[in-house]
Amino acid sequence: MSRQMMIVSTLQELRTAQPLLDRPVGLVPTMGYLHEGHLSLARQARQECHSVAVSIFVNPTQFGPSEDLSKYPRDLERDLQLLETVGVDLVWTPTPEIMYPPGFQTWVEVQEVTKPLEGAQRPGHFKGVTTVVSKLFNAVGPDKAYFGQKDAQQAAVIRRMTADLNFPIEIIVCPTVREPDGLAMSSRNVYLDSDQRRAATVLYRSLSAAQAAFGKGERDAGKLREIVQQTVASEPLAQLQYVSCADYATLQELDQVRGKALLSMAVFFGKTRLIDNFVLG
Ligand SMILES: Nc1ncnc2c1ncn2[C@@H]1O[C@H](COP(=O)(O)OP(=O)(O)OP(=O)(O)O)[C@@H](O)[C@H]1O
Ligand SMILES: [Mg+2]
Repeated sequence: MSRQMMIVSTLQELRTAQPLLDRPVGLVPTMGYLHEGHLSLARQARQECHSVAVSIFVNPTQFGPSEDLSKYPRDLERDLQLLETVGVDLVWTPTPEIMYPPGFQTWVEVQEVTKPLEGAQRPGHFKGVTTVVSKLFNAVGPDKAYFGQKDAQQAAVIRRMTADLNFPIEIIVCPTVREPDGLAMSSRNVYLDSDQRRAATVLYRSLSAAQAAFGKGERDAGKLREIVQQTVASEPLAQLQYVSCADYATLQELDQVRGKALLSMAVFFGKTRLIDNFVLG
């Protein structure tokens, strides 16, 4: 832990550095422009593993054609400084040419669990995610990998993929880290202007309102969705894309909440799309 942080980019460098990591190795995959959400994953890995590896890669294949990949925020210098403070052992910053060599044509696709919610709104997104995460798993060979609950469906998809492909990796999902006013931290929050930033608390407020109703005994999933929808409707700068109250395991929409449910949503502020979720029950 007192060792110097290794920073590698090429596969050859990674393959030289990787065997130096004492096991268990924890991997935190990121797209960079790090915030407290990412750092909380790295800190949990630091507590649970002998070595911590973080990947920073803005994965082009998980962006849709209308999503602005070229504008995605980047600040590698700052990211590296932040990771130093956490005591990360290895940072891997592969290039698109490394992850997608010329002639690339091999994909990892998870079926049912990618279909609703984010998968329905962002065709091809999870195909990009599962392909790149498989490649990160193969290259780094971690014992544990850390993901955030903010991206609840992503966590479910990665769990499914890990089981289906027999990756010998434990998937750990960490709580959503929020700003003091409740907004879930996201690299995309920098796209918001100051009015949109104020309005963006509506995700947390609407989920909280539905959770309060659930706490008072509301089990009608339609009513819970309606509370979210009406709260968002009261915010002029917010445009609701979807609200879902789904079975926590299958992500299928519910009529009644009996077991654990995932209440999740996506909202546009101008061109910026934010997601959030609460687990009920
Ligand atoms: N607020 C948060 N709390 C906990 N984990 C988070 C949070 N935000 C992101 N993560 C997790 O960090 C990992 C890397 O996510 P990523 O680099 O895409 O960051 P991001 O903030 O979600 O960016 P973007 O909004 O562009 O997707 C994912 O496992 C994601 O779930
Ligand atoms: Mg993300």
